[in-house]
Amino acid sequence: MKTLITNAQIATSTQMVQGDVLIEHGKISRVAPGIAAGGARVIDAAGKFLLPGGVDAHTHLDLDTGAARAADDFLSGSIAAACGGTTTIIDHMGFGPKGCGLEHQVDVYHELARQCVVDYGFHGVIQHVDATVLEDMQRLIARGITSYKLYLTYGYKLADADVLAVMQKAQELGLMVCVHCENDASIAFLTKKLLAAGKSAPRYHAQSRPVQCEAEAVFRMLMLAKMAGEAPLYVVHLSSGLGLQAIELARHNGQQHVFAETCPQYLLLNESSYEDKREGLKFIMSPPLRTAVDNAALWQGLASGQVETVGTDHCPFQFATQKMQGLGNFTKCPNGAPGVETRMQLMFSEGFMKGRLTLPQVVQACCTRPAKLFGIAPQKGDIAPGADADLVLIDPTVRSSITKAHLHERVDYTPYEGWEVQGAPVLTMARGEVIAENGTFVGKAGRGVYLERGLPKLG
Ligand code: URP
Ligand code: ZN
Ligand code: ZN
Repeated sequence: MKTLITNAQIATSTQMVQGDVLIEHGKISRVAPGIAAGGARVIDAAGKFLLPGGVDAHTHLDLDTGAARAADDFLSGSIAAACGGTTTIIDHMGFGPKGCGLEHQVDVYHELARQCVVDYGFHGVIQHVDATVLEDMQRLIARGITSYKLYLTYGYKLADADVLAVMQKAQELGLMVCVHCENDASIAFLTKKLLAAGKSAPRYHAQSRPVQCEAEAVFRMLMLAKMAGEAPLYVVHLSSGLGLQAIELARHNGQQHVFAETCPQYLLLNESSYEDKREGLKFIMSPPLRTAVDNAALWQGLASGQVETVGTDHCPFQFATQKMQGLGNFTKCPNGAPGVETRMQLMFSEGFMKGRLTLPQVVQACCTRPAKLFGIAPQKGDIAPGADADLVLIDPTVRSSITKAHLHERVDYTPYEGWEVQGAPVLTMARGEVIAENGTFVGKAGRGVYLERGLPKLG
């Protein structure tokens, strides 16, 4: 029942302290130096960093796009999360049948997630807007759905008037509106032009969705959110410096309830990944990879606090059988890439070890802010008495190179193959239970619990 983690370098959202963490009944009960063991099981963490378990607020487990199903279900994807130091996920539910109410996908996803091994929540998805949908937004608060994703492109894109109606309702209820910001009309126009000119290799996927396509949509959403009375707006998977400039401008003009999420792929990878017409398919995602200048702008945004969170947008499709459908026509390649297992390690190595961020900044972006913004703090996202004992121990001395062979994501590639990292998650604990050790999952299928999320904490 009692565990004591001793001698750790503890990274909370606000500070680094050397000391011990006492865990009782699945919760953190004390954080202090020199806590007496008093019969507790002791884990000696000397020389290691102890962080809150990761909170990944952007996954797509078991996503069915109609054309392809994501390679990871809730079991395999959450095992991968656990082995990588992530103990909570908030999944973006896929679209349901045309015309369905909001509750439909919530029921479907409760079934899909039964085997999940980490604690989980769901973002609602809005694919059409009418009076019933707006009423459902209120009703679903009681089922823990306090955020919604809207798409401005793909099959169920929303028109501006519908976005505005949802934002007004969200503002009234205190809910978070997450938006996939890309200008659909420009994508359609550019794609048609590129394909007509025989430009169908992966690099043209990026050209069909340039940074202006994202930035225009970000700016439009900011303005709509303002018109809706400052509805809370969370821009998912921000990929460009230009998109970030739009957010900074809105903030400069006094708009407060605006939040930006980026992902490791937009911090670390760039459009050169598209050069090979076969390998480039692995990196087809929307928005696409950008330039090193965009990478730097997003790192800078994280350091300055203009970018709040790092999610993964984990949306894995098999390279050999699914992504390869896009060989010879990038529009036939299912969009998305894996990343749920590598996020914490990459952010530790590339963020902290390379001096771009302090460790509390990594904790803020990967754990604390997503927990607050999506209504699961203070239970999740930090190391403090009363919080769930969701923890990850990272050994900074381990140097390795990321390879598919060592990962648990059920997909036949990683975008980070061969990436050199310093520091590895060596132990993951969830609600006081060790669930992963040295890259092996040691927990039980179905141990994760559904999180009935509260309202976002915007401050
Ligand atoms: O390409 C991507 N990002 N696929 C996943 C769905 C989404 O838009 O988040
Ligand atoms: Zn999206
Ligand atoms: Zn996504």
